[in-house]
Amino acid sequence: MKIGICSDHAGIEYKAKLISYLVGKGHEVVNFGTDSSDSCDYPDFAHPLASAVESGEVDKGIAICGTGNGMAITLNHHRGVRAGLAWNTAVAHLVKEHNNANVLVLPARFVSYRMAVTMVREWLVTDFAGGRHQRRIDKIPV
Ligand code: RB5
Repeated sequence: MKIGICSDHAGIEYKAKLISYLVGKGHEVVNFGTDSSDSCDYPDFAHPLASAVESGEVDKGIAICGTGNGMAITLNHHRGVRAGLAWNTAVAHLVKEHNNANVLVLPARFVSYRMAVTMVREWLVTDFAGGRHQRRIDKIPV
């Protein structure tokens, strides 16, 4: 799978480790930055990732910031993106099974790296349930 990934300064360590993990599992990873610990603005990295998901340049995306909220709010301005914030394994499962999130958003300052990688693994292996959940997703666009 081709996976795009981005973070702000709060997420660079988790991003670097997740890239190694994903490449080790045979995925192709496109890194949309940042790669600096200097304070930066999450939309500068969320928008390029979202555009890549919308265009099909990548199959899925992972976005990381301190709380996850800045990334999620920005990503969800894009029509073709369903970005879901997760903080434990059950939520990472449900954000795919029920919401068909094509971008997983992680709150680096509020979960351990071990939890982050566990959530990524769960989200990647879980299938969307469809049915009533598809009906609900179809009602999201305004
Ligand atoms: C950066 O300090 C922090 O505001 C950012 O990572 C994120 O939590 C915003 O939603």
